[in-house]
Amino acid sequence: MGLLEQIDRSRLPEHIAIIMDGNGRWAKEKGKMRFFGHQSGVTSVRDVVEGVVEAGVKYLTLYTFSTENWNRPKLEVSALMELLVTTINKETKTLMENDVRLNAIGDLKQLPARGYKKLQEAIEKTSGNKASTVTLALSYSSRWEIVEAARKLAAQAAKGEIRPEDINEGVFASQLATAGIPDPELMIRTSGEYRISNYLLWQLAYAELYFTPKLWPDFRREDLFEAIIDFQKRERRFGLTSEQI
Ligand code: IPE
Ligand code: IPE
Ligand code: MG
Repeated sequence: MGLLEQIDRSRLPEHIAIIMDGNGRWAKEKGKMRFFGHQSGVTSVRDVVEGVVEAGVKYLTLYTFSTENWNRPKLEVSALMELLVTTINKETKTLMENDVRLNAIGDLKQLPARGYKKLQEAIEKTSGNKASTVTLALSYSSRWEIVEAARKLAAQAAKGEIRPEDINEGVFASQLATAGIPDPELMIRTSGEYRISNYLLWQLAYAELYFTPKLWPDFRREDLFEAIIDFQKRERRFGLTSEQI
């Protein structure tokens, strides 16, 4: 039986978040420039997006570029921004063919104008697609997002639109960039690093974490299926005892 068939469709994670890490090391292992790794990582993105649709997972969020990544060498940053544009140009077709809606979270105004425009066009073009929603976390960090949410609520309170005592978890979550998207149930990080790197700190509160030594450019849909199968073997207790579940 193939991996896809081993997935229990009645217990799918509704939302999977991925930290796509290890592109630079992958390239270095091959004696190539780091950028070659980023370029090759696009193949993994395409394959995983198709895998998500095949498995029936409704939401996929991909950590594409963090706030902290702006501090990388200028040449790498500009190459990554260029790759964003070429990838959107090439892959919008793949999104349409697979009925995938594109979304983005992060401080998008920091993106170069051309990248921002291409991104908005692709989001618009795919906005009616229904099979899955793929969110790119771009110029994103969780602390940035949480501070933004706090700022918006403070502004509303200052104007008398909301009372501080009315702020609860639901109200707070509604001000996050991910408003309307269910929390990820499974978070995958590639490249053998065991950390969160400022990713979806609020939303991952009860996510199952899955780490694989595979470097991102080697990751394919079968690896995603393996992670889902592993997820389905776990008991999610949400603070309760085993007996209560
Ligand atoms: C992840 O790969 C992609 C981005 C952060 C843009 P890295 O570029 O972090 O690759 P490593 O971790 O240095 O190998
Ligand atoms: C996290 O990877 C960000 C992305 C994958 C886009 P990093 O490579 O930037 O994270 P650290 O520096 O290893 O924590
Ligand atoms: Mg890295």
